[in-house]
Amino acid sequence: MNQLLLALRAAGESTRLRILAALKESELTVSELTRILDQSQPRVSRHLKLMCDSGLLERYQEGAWVFHRVSDREGVRDITRGLMALIDLSDPALERDQKKLREIREEKTRLAARYFSEHAADWDSLRARMVSDEAIERRLLEWAGEEPIDLFLDLGTGTGRILEIFAPRVRRGVGFDLSREMLSIARSKLENAGITNCTVRRGDIYSIDLPDNSADVITIHQVLHYCDNPERAIAESARLLCPGGRLLLVDFLPHNLEFLRETHAHQRLGFSPDTIRQWSERHGLGVVHHEALARDVDDGQSLTAGIWTLRRNELHT
Ligand SMILES: C[S@@+](CC[C@H](N)C(=O)[O-])C[C@H]1O[C@@H](n2cnc3c(N)ncnc32)[C@H](O)[C@@H]1O
Repeated sequence: MNQLLLALRAAGESTRLRILAALKESELTVSELTRILDQSQPRVSRHLKLMCDSGLLERYQEGAWVFHRVSDREGVRDITRGLMALIDLSDPALERDQKKLREIREEKTRLAARYFSEHAADWDSLRARMVSDEAIERRLLEWAGEEPIDLFLDLGTGTGRILEIFAPRVRRGVGFDLSREMLSIARSKLENAGITNCTVRRGDIYSIDLPDNSADVITIHQVLHYCDNPERAIAESARLLCPGGRLLLVDFLPHNLEFLRETHAHQRLGFSPDTIRQWSERHGLGVVHHEALARDVDDGQSLTAGIWTLRRNELHT
């Protein structure tokens, strides 16, 4: 009862309800929330502190940025989700907030899109400098399992490297990407390699134009750290996978290489195994394998890539 009272008190104020509504689908920094709410930073920070103290929200530091998200702690999770379900987003104040939230997301997407359109031609050498391709590719093929793969999807396919390595293992493969420049390179690479069972299409990782339960295996290789809402990308993959299907995820483990935000348009500085597990479990995926592979990047700084196999539960709806 104490926890419930604390949570209700913390949520029972108009700005704080607006904060909950804004965090319904996203993790946001204080400055993003300040922009959405159009209030001073100290004021927003005071509300956030109170909400964190009550257990409604969690804050976590990622390099120089501090993100806030709805708490996933047992005991408060159901209260928060229940409260958020009652929030009517058609309320005019909340509609305005949602509009600003969309603008912020679009800005971030535009920045990442510009980066990829500028770097499409040299992406293959850039990616090789950042992660150890061979070790990861070996693991991906191994963890895809022995069963036949009828439909394989590679989300955020870039220049189509993952499609190339999976082509001999799958009946049909489709790579989706937002960047036309990346897609055009992927197309010519597949063509030059004589791969006819894989194609690429323009598509957003958050909303792929395919029915539920259609894919056997999905890969998201080094894409999540460019996403402003990585959990939504995992949720979309869970929707697309058939029961028992696998999502093979590769991304960095948490790091402090802040310059990657500036020079390589990274939105997130890696993901902890706990975060990936929480997001996956929320959308009916269970962690089957996880492994970390270290790699030096420029100037002796090291990055560790994590690989996960996430299996879609049989009963999840
Ligand atoms: C770092 S590259 C990785 C490409 C490829 N998976 C690889 O490992 O070589 C990230 C790719 O994700 C794409 N991307 C970023 N956000 C996306 C989104 N919302 N939907 C689809 N693709 C996206 C970018 O255009 C880019 O091609």
